[in-house]
Amino acid sequence: MFLTGEEKRILDGACGEPQRLALRVLVKLGEACGAERMVEIASAHLVASSYQIAGEAGIEIYSQLVAQGAKVKVRTTSDPGSIDFARWREFKTPEQYAARQIKIAELLDAMGVIPTWTCTPYTTFNVPRFGEHLGWSESSAVVFANSVIGARTNRLAAYVDLCGALVGRVPYFGLHCDEGRRGQVLFEVAPDLAADFADHYFPPLGYLVGQVVGDKVPVIVGLRGASSDQLKAFGAASAASGSVALYHMVGITPEARSLEEALGGGKPLQKIPVGKAEIERTMEQMGALTDEPVDVVGIGCPHASIDQMRRYAALLEGKRVHGGVQLWICANVVVEEMARKMGYLDILERAGAKLMVGTCHNDCPLDAWGFKRLVTDSGKFAYYTPTTVGTQCIFASTEACIHAAIAGKVEGR
Ligand code: F3S
Repeated sequence: MFLTGEEKRILDGACGEPQRLALRVLVKLGEACGAERMVEIASAHLVASSYQIAGEAGIEIYSQLVAQGAKVKVRTTSDPGSIDFARWREFKTPEQYAARQIKIAELLDAMGVIPTWTCTPYTTFNVPRFGEHLGWSESSAVVFANSVIGARTNRLAAYVDLCGALVGRVPYFGLHCDEGRRGQVLFEVAPDLAADFADHYFPPLGYLVGQVVGDKVPVIVGLRGASSDQLKAFGAASAASGSVALYHMVGITPEARSLEEALGGGKPLQKIPVGKAEIERTMEQMGALTDEPVDVVGIGCPHASIDQMRRYAALLEGKRVHGGVQLWICANVVVEEMARKMGYLDILERAGAKLMVGTCHNDCPLDAWGFKRLVTDSGKFAYYTPTTVGTQCIFASTEACIHAAIAGKVEGR
């Protein structure tokens, strides 16, 4: 691999042991993936900020790096942790577990990581520009940055993201290059479905796309529009059921002003028609309806925007969450503060909902609750929580989720 003079100096140890080690890892990765050079990055986002992901090994690695004086070289943000730092006792997190997450927070602080604790750093703290190269992990953030913003990052693994942050560069391959960004599999949304495309169809469409393409680049044609929150929900589902890191939606995302542009002038490997029946079938896979009681409702995955908080508050105003149900809304600290200022938090808390800030159902230890049945409007939660929380899962629209929290059971999607 071609290395600049500065990169050679880093590898010789002239910039310290953490940088030498980080670049060595990145060069190995680049060589394995056929990269001919490195590319400088504007920012990094770290997924092993959570104790659930980092574990004791992560604490050991971070402690060693901090002892060697490691500092991040570019703007670097943290993904959700495994606790709500202000309310972990309310969520029945064991004291010892919380202490280990707090230790990780201290170590990341020492390296200069911005303690954002969110999977939506692109909304406030770490906002990339079109065409900028990044070194990000967190599947839902990676797919948003690539697809909706048009920035360029591979889906980095835990610790490789930190290596990128420490040296401010990553190997140039995959989604950093034009060739890697060409659409490969075409999904054609039927006109009758597109004409009546409900908000809660975005997660199952993403889930279906992810299942089919794995890590290929899908192109979706036929949709007439999508909000930023709908694109976030679609991408997170596709990145969970598959490994989608970039998608194009023709006429909607920035590198897909036309079908030709989305396909990079080539032909798709496969064309897949999508109608109402495919969406219905996928929603069943994500969690079949049942009239059994539910005990937990999870919304705000990926972390809720202020628009979503406004919507939740409107749906819950003057209502009361059922006594046997926990309604938890995941968000970051800035959205929490804004929701407080705008009076939404007051409405939500009066209704009995709980805000889960800087973490989520999927990242926290929830064994003490003994939950059996979770309802969610998120494709990513639908994919992961049966394993991580150990619950049966039901997928439903945001309205139906909030209705379930009030009624104690799901009464339709
Ligand atoms: Fe974010 Fe947790 Fe969902 S990290 S994307 S709220 S699973």
